[in-house]
Amino acid sequence: MKSTDILNPVSKLISGKTRICGIIGDPIEHTISPTMQNAAFRQMGLDYVFIPFKVKKEDLREAIEGIKALNIRGLNVTIPHKVAVMPFLDEVDPLAENIGAVNTIVNNEGLLKGYNTDASGFLQSLLAENIQPAGKNVVILGAGGASRAIAFILADKGANLTILNRHSEAAKALAGWITRLFRREVIAGDLEKESLRVALKEADLLVNTTSVGMSPDTEDTLAPSRLIKSTLSVVDIIYNPLKTRLLIDAEKKGAKVIGGVEMLVQQGAAAFELWTGRKAPVDVMRSTAIEALNVRKD
Ligand code: ATR
Repeated sequence: MKSTDILNPVSKLISGKTRICGIIGDPIEHTISPTMQNAAFRQMGLDYVFIPFKVKKEDLREAIEGIKALNIRGLNVTIPHKVAVMPFLDEVDPLAENIGAVNTIVNNEGLLKGYNTDASGFLQSLLAENIQPAGKNVVILGAGGASRAIAFILADKGANLTILNRHSEAAKALAGWITRLFRREVIAGDLEKESLRVALKEADLLVNTTSVGMSPDTEDTLAPSRLIKSTLSVVDIIYNPLKTRLLIDAEKKGAKVIGGVEMLVQQGAAAFELWTGRKAPVDVMRSTAIEALNVRKD
């Protein structure tokens, strides 16, 4: 190797001044956030790097203390730490506090503040398609963690919600929480053919927050094609595959569709802006994310 080869493009990326961001989770091997965020840093000419950290549940407190000790600028937080991380932070943004989950941490000179960009990323993916939630009838499938953030932000923006879940108790609990917070009636029920048919009759927007349709079970869908009309918009938060059976069926019916990669990109863009104070290069993040997901499939 010639001595000049040492200064190849990769070794030039990191210097003594480079700021560090990353993502903590377990498992973390399948994350595409490093690919997406590093492409965004390069695009903007920022001296930042983004690294995956596999953090076990029992090591979470030490990992969060390590942010300060190592002067890390910020982290994304993913499964299983989004709720558990909250007590270890100095401050939590009101949106994240209300939702009860943090997916982004910013280290402001030793003060750690938590945010939820999943909810704002979801909203942004709608607004980018000119879908305004106010006054719209929205049917949400699922009542887990992702559904909670999505239901909250939609109710906050004035949508009328119907939440359907395989186990209706979880849908009712989530609906009750939204009703108490926003003084807005929310319909809750079983995720069955008849309740779905009734709900979709008047619906403007359908959101799948469950894992049904995710690879490898890519032919599965919770909404039979005949219940989908052309005036409906359909969002699936699954990004593997990029287009689920639900979205393929909806598109055939002439409905507007939004895939899960858009929420992934928009939550990442919001986190990027919190860490760098710069506008995120969303197009580069989207194309890099799609490329990374396509490569991973092979
Ligand atoms: P997340 O944080 O991604 O929302 P979660 O909290 O585990 O994950 O929630 C998963 C959601 O998908 C739940 O609403 C779950 O329904 P149940 O509460 O009835 O378990 C839903 N889900 C998962 N597999 C499903 C299936 N095969 N059919 C219908 N709903 C399913």
